[in-house]
Amino acid sequence: MPDNRVALVTGAGAGIGRASALALAADGARVVVSDIASGNGEETASMIREAGGDARFVHADVTRESDVVALVATAIDTYGGLDCAVNNAGIEGTLAPVGNYSLADWQQVIDINLTGVFLCLREEIAVMLSRGSGSIVNIASVYGLRGSSRSPAYTASKHAVVGLTKSAAGAYATEGIRVNAICPGFIRTAMVERVLELSPDAEESIVARHPIGRLGTPEEVAAAVVWLCSDESGFVTGHTLAVDGGFLI
Ligand code: NAI
Repeated sequence: MPDNRVALVTGAGAGIGRASALALAADGARVVVSDIASGNGEETASMIREAGGDARFVHADVTRESDVVALVATAIDTYGGLDCAVNNAGIEGTLAPVGNYSLADWQQVIDINLTGVFLCLREEIAVMLSRGSGSIVNIASVYGLRGSSRSPAYTASKHAVVGLTKSAAGAYATEGIRVNAICPGFIRTAMVERVLELSPDAEESIVARHPIGRLGTPEEVAAAVVWLCSDESGFVTGHTLAVDGGFLI
């Protein structure tokens, strides 16, 4: 049964974003589901409604300032506010060491993974400030805390998301707005399936890097999202929470 909280999730048409939208709805929030993939995003919103929740899909490319402004405005127009936001949209980008990385490939990853989070944060914070409360979760990665030699742009973008999270958390802690980051290990989603398609033999070694002995599920990340969005985590801000099966140990 929906309560009065309003949540917004970017990249919610698949993977971690979809699982987060479903979990926030199951926890009672009304959810603005956003993605560039309209069919998938509409499907997530339908799944929420079929389960008895309240959701609306809004098409938005997080790299486009006008899309992000319209996305947050639609949340306010539809549901009257914004209590939590999950800045999740991201891509893995080309796999190559930095010496072989094209500027175009670099720019695409930085635009989506970093500038997209910046644009969303800015609009979300503006509306949360007017109410004096809010919780924002940025989806970074274990590669926001350590290096990946074949993903220079991804690694740089996710380190930057961790830094941006701390900057925003410090700036708005006294205004009732909390900003945290989640750093997932390898989670079985379309993103990881694409990586495994390029290197089919890599699965065993990837699994072996997680002491728990398996890849994570989108639902395990979503559970952390729900907690960080809730008042249960009311004294937690500027934190980077690894959900990684021990990858960073
Ligand atoms: P996914 O590829 O399954 O889903 C990503 C979603 O983002 C897709 O629905 C896609 O359409 C959307 N998207 C892509 N570009 C967009 C844009 N410009 N504007 C709006 N939406 C856009 O990916 P997954 O695995 O669910 O990843 C979600 C987040 O979690 C990403 O930020 C990723 O970097 C991060 N992450 C994922 C890990 C994993 O192992 N799957 C590990 C660590 C972090």
